[in-house]
Amino acid sequence: MKQLVIEGNRNLTGEIKISGAKNSVVALIPAAILSYEEVTLYNVPNISDTLSLIDILKLLNCNVDYHNDKMIINNKNIENKVITEDLSKKLRASYYFMGALLAKFNYAEIYFPGGCNIGSRPIDFHIKGFEKLGAEVIIDGNKYIFKAKKLKGAKIYLDFASVGATINIMLAAVKAEGTTYISNAAKEPEIVNIATLLNNMGAKITGAGTSEIKIEGVEHLGKGVIDVIPDRIEAGTYVIMGALLGKKLEISGIIEDHIEALLSKLKEMGVDIKVVKDSKIIINAPESLRPINVKTLVFPGFATDLGQPMSVLLTQANGMSIFEETIYENRMGHIKYLQKMGANITLTDRTAIITGPTKLYGTDVVATDLRAGAAMVIAGLIAEGTTYVEEIEHVLRGYENIIEKLTAVGAKIEIIEE
Ligand code: EPU
Repeated sequence: MKQLVIEGNRNLTGEIKISGAKNSVVALIPAAILSYEEVTLYNVPNISDTLSLIDILKLLNCNVDYHNDKMIINNKNIENKVITEDLSKKLRASYYFMGALLAKFNYAEIYFPGGCNIGSRPIDFHIKGFEKLGAEVIIDGNKYIFKAKKLKGAKIYLDFASVGATINIMLAAVKAEGTTYISNAAKEPEIVNIATLLNNMGAKITGAGTSEIKIEGVEHLGKGVIDVIPDRIEAGTYVIMGALLGKKLEISGIIEDHIEALLSKLKEMGVDIKVVKDSKIIINAPESLRPINVKTLVFPGFATDLGQPMSVLLTQANGMSIFEETIYENRMGHIKYLQKMGANITLTDRTAIITGPTKLYGTDVVATDLRAGAAMVIAGLIAEGTTYVEEIEHVLRGYENIIEKLTAVGAKIEIIEE
């Protein structure tokens, strides 16, 4: 069993360079199979979700050359195969092979996806979208079969601006006959990144990044090249650490606009943030933090993936803060561990009332999901004494070289294996 061991209360000084975005690369890799030629991705983060997707590409007989942060995917010999339960369940994003295989072969067989246990996470919008495009969807236990004679463009309205459904429908529609319109589409930066790769391969997508996306079907997709955008959630996580422990902590390789909601809330709390240029910020932890209210929303609102890390910061604010999660019904698994460490938090449903500042003390805690794990790392870094975090495979799914990056700026953190 692997554990993270963190000695708290050390300042963070120096530079942390942000890696490519997990939630982008996990869709760019499935998108690549739509090509019949080579697709090259740069700035690919070496995280376990990337490696799980490579396993799926290999199952489909694609050739993958992955060195440093460059990945070349060659689909010349691709074969359509059932994506096994074991591979599907390793991560949420395996579901992007539904849209991609359906577009490529008019047929896909894949099991229900995995991912963090943060709510029921249905995929009904994806399925309705595929059906609108003309696919038949058969649910056989926990396996899905998608088949179509021919996919045809359609007008699709999403009941909620779902990131996954927007991307999956975009993937399925790029080669459909005619034009597809997605209304109430999600606007997250990752969607723009995927659309940019698809257009680079020859697709005709406009409106990505707005709530109306138009996809004119094309017959052929060829070579493609893309840079994975910087991971705004990884960036936000380190920025929050800087707000607590930063002494000239530099976060580089970011896109400032992507974390605007977070930066604006931190400034409201009194955190000293200097934007050096568009891609770098310097953070100093203030003497005292003002309490604030945070409500998670779809982009450009405050990201749900940063809610859990943010709640740790609120334990150190001077007074009462309210943190409300609106996207997932079960994203508060970390709260009981913050309470165990000494935080003063009252949790009702999806709302936490956090009163600070309270000293946190190192103890045994659990990373109940990926961002809960990030929250535990932050709590361990500010706690007095030693914090032991279990189930760290969740953290390693999403944060490239987290130990190396934090050690380089002065943290005392290591992985031990028992
Ligand atoms: N929803 C439905 N039906 C659907 C799809 C979504 O009811 O068919 C609901 C979900 O249950 C949830 C809400 O809509 O309550 C939003 O879900 P969305 O589809 O937007 O999320 P996702 O695509 O499953 C991605 C990220 C998440 C991130 C969300 C929101 C990936 C692989 N995952 O999930 O990332 O929280 O968008 O930005 O891209 C994480 O990185 O920690 C993470 C969970």
